[in-house]
Amino acid sequence: MTTFMESVHAKAKSDPRRVVLPEGDDERMVEAAALATAQGLARITLLGSSAKIQETAKARGLSLDGVEVVDTASLPALEEYAKEFYELRKNKGLTLDTALGTMRDPLFYGAMMVRKGAVDAFVAGAVNSTGNVCRAGIQIVGLQDGIKTLSSFFVMNLPHPTFGQAGTLFYADCGVVPNPDASQLADIAITTAESWRMLMGTEPVVAMLSFSTKGSAKHPDIDKVLEATRLAHEKEPSLLIDGELQGDAALIAKVGEKKAPGSPVAGKANVLIFPDLDAGNIAYKLTERLAGAEALGPILQGNKKPCCDLSRGCKASDIVNVTAVNVVRIQYRMQAG
Ligand SMILES: CC(C)(COP(=O)(O)OP(=O)(O)OC[C@H]1O[C@@H](n2cnc3c(N)ncnc32)[C@H](O)[C@@H]1OP(=O)(O)O)[C@@H](O)C(=O)NCCC(=O)NCCS
Repeated sequence: MTTFMESVHAKAKSDPRRVVLPEGDDERMVEAAALATAQGLARITLLGSSAKIQETAKARGLSLDGVEVVDTASLPALEEYAKEFYELRKNKGLTLDTALGTMRDPLFYGAMMVRKGAVDAFVAGAVNSTGNVCRAGIQIVGLQDGIKTLSSFFVMNLPHPTFGQAGTLFYADCGVVPNPDASQLADIAITTAESWRMLMGTEPVVAMLSFSTKGSAKHPDIDKVLEATRLAHEKEPSLLIDGELQGDAALIAKVGEKKAPGSPVAGKANVLIFPDLDAGNIAYKLTERLAGAEALGPILQGNKKPCCDLSRGCKASDIVNVTAVNVVRIQYRMQAG
């Protein structure tokens, strides 16, 4: 059976897109650039010290044929990008000088390359913190029309095919928004549903999770989930979404039939939306450790163009995988127009 990642790699290879890796001074980024290029997954731009990048490639026997290297000591569009950033944020008190300083940071320069269309997406986070990667995505690349919340999802691949689509489920948000209100939670549901369509190619079935199913308990936290479900449904009436549902009612047909009879989602969910970051983060780690699932993420979502974060402990192969995910998301957006 084709795994999730094998299918993502195959799709990426069919139309490799341009991805910038702004943390080129890190050896893992150089290795990932060489691997992704050799495998035909993406057209890579590396930002960093040219000398250091060449040195890493030589020491590791990596070919950088086909990789564009932009030296951060002489960034070609520095002034233009700084002006653009200044215009974007001058009403927040940003000065041209500070904008220039920020643009010298390869992370923010790379994000501006995405904004300006010099590349299609960025992948960073091997060196930068999640917070900084999010800020570059929010402030520079911007958010999708109709979405006000940057969030993230995990692809959870279970070792058995019982749940989700052949054992694959998406969990959100497990990485970005600590305490979403109802409107942010609705955004998280809608963007994760869209991420499912992009990467899985099928229709999402979205469960809005809670400690209650269909009024079995009363609490303001449940009201939040109900309101988020209503808002998401209002924004996207054709989306298969239901809540509030407990985890068992969302996943197990018999429990779903009993606790939420007539629900189009109960027992069939493939996308699980958690009420807050505590629940989401704890759930993904428990699923990983107790159920032996492979967790891929957190993958950022909600940006106008794809931006991806990495764990600082990532390996070159993780960077390659996340790059391939970004390429597939770009392809989807381009096809959708
Ligand atoms: C996303 C994150 C960086 C925002 O940080 P913050 O300190 O709340 O935001 P800032 O004060 O830097 O604000 C930056 C801007 O982004 C906006 N913003 C913050 N979070 C946002 C979100 N999730 N979606 C959209 N916009 C957001 C703010 O409104 C602000 O807008 P403005 O500057 O135009 O007024 C923060 O929530 C974060 O670090 N999350 C990651 C949590 C984490 O560490 N996860 C790893 C373990 S799982």
